[in-house]
Amino acid sequence: MMKIAIINGPNLNLLGVREPAIYGNTAFDGFFAGLQEKYAGVAELTYFQSNHEGALIDHMQSIGFDYDGIVLNAGAYTHTSVAIADCISAICTPVIEVHISNVHSRESFRHHSMISAVCKGVIAGFGLDSYRLAIEALISR
Ligand code: DQA
Repeated sequence: MMKIAIINGPNLNLLGVREPAIYGNTAFDGFFAGLQEKYAGVAELTYFQSNHEGALIDHMQSIGFDYDGIVLNAGAYTHTSVAIADCISAICTPVIEVHISNVHSRESFRHHSMISAVCKGVIAGFGLDSYRLAIEALISR
């Protein structure tokens, strides 16, 4: 069975509460339980969230030589973090960058990603379904 990790960065612990017009009304925990059920028998899904750049890096290093895929929503660190980009380059596990919102239809500072170039691909703008689409991409690789 494949091992796939979903990793959420800063402020994504507030999904369901945070700016619902942009990020929706659904809390991540229930959504994640649904994904686990959907992919039972195909992929073992784990979930990690942190508001701290170093904690995200520590976690990616700890699974990144073992897991088959990482679905990463780095939140605002997407636009700023050389350290997360370096971590993605350092590990062996393929990483897919995801965003709930269409970052290209938002403020210009969200148009640039520090991590896209070192990720396998990017999925943005499909709401929480962006995570499922990334899992599908990892499974069908
Ligand atoms: C986000 C987009 C980022 O620009 C923002 O900082 C986030 C969430 C998204 O999922 O749409 O925190 O990654």
